Amino acid sequence: MEREYEKEFAMTTGKNELEIIEIELLLEGVYRLYGYDFRNYALPSLKRRIWHHVHSENVPSISALQEKVLHDRACFERLIYSLSIPVTEMFRDPGLFLTFRQKVIPLLRTYPYIRIWHAGCSTGEEVYSMAILLHEEGLYDKARIYATDMNNRSLQQAKEGVYEISKMKQYTKNYLEAGGTRAFSEYYSAKYNSVILQPYLRKNIIFAEHNLATDTSFNEFNVIFCRNVMIYFNDELRDNVHGLFNESLSRFGVLVLGSKESIHFTKYSDSYEALDRVEKIYRKVN
Ligand SMILES: C[S@@+](CC[C@H](N)C(=O)[O-])C[C@H]1O[C@@H](n2cnc3c(N)ncnc32)[C@H](O)[C@@H]1O
Repeated sequence: MEREYEKEFAMTTGKNELEIIEIELLLEGVYRLYGYDFRNYALPSLKRRIWHHVHSENVPSISALQEKVLHDRACFERLIYSLSIPVTEMFRDPGLFLTFRQKVIPLLRTYPYIRIWHAGCSTGEEVYSMAILLHEEGLYDKARIYATDMNNRSLQQAKEGVYEISKMKQYTKNYLEAGGTRAFSEYYSAKYNSVILQPYLRKNIIFAEHNLATDTSFNEFNVIFCRNVMIYFNDELRDNVHGLFNESLSRFGVLVLGSKESIHFTKYSDSYEALDRVEKIYRKVN
């Protein structure tokens, strides 16, 4: 399939044409030198992030950025961070976590052992939200949570489980709306301007680097969360990643997508039934 920016290339002229060539060369260089593959990311947000990075690196053009990225690993690492858009929060979209408690937890109770994969976990807030939920439902001890991301810097933060104290007001609100019944402050200790999550929440979480664009399946899971990650991919990459998830889910395994995402219009739409259409919770049926 043609890449999205190639299609655009065919339709554009002048300045835009040059811009597309420069983006292609940058992404090709990054892939060949560092192995990170952004070539099938959706063009509009990619373009925005690349220009943002051109300005923050104080270089005059995308070609100049390419030169710097290829000769300076630190600059490449800053580019990865900027392309990875690590925005997240605890109990983000509380309605989803509430529905997960109501509709998925009863299924998980019937399993002797639970494996959950958070693909694109960013700095870990979504993963710790799951750990809290499983702990409250009495299922944490029989669970293993695999938390992966392509961005190593975010993963390091995730492992530490340290967050800004100023975010706790919003996270407490989310937690309560997600069906939490305790004092949210039970789950962390405050120190100066930060909080550290209770170490017992981390004990069954395995953090690892994994790139959805280039890496393969590594286990069989009962639940896969991949929220707000594939919105940045083009159709081809999105289909490939759905193939990876389909292969990695056990029979009747549950796939959870972001609020703006859907299994419909992917190659795998017939392999799932909706457990909750609004909250984007699907169950693998074939
Ligand atoms: C917007 S955050 C979403 C975090 C969390 N899932 C949530 O919904 O709050 C997107 C994350 O996807 C990760 N990501 C982007 N492309 C990826 C890829 N090819 N493989 C693995 N992770 C990727 C980014 O590094 C970033 O941490």
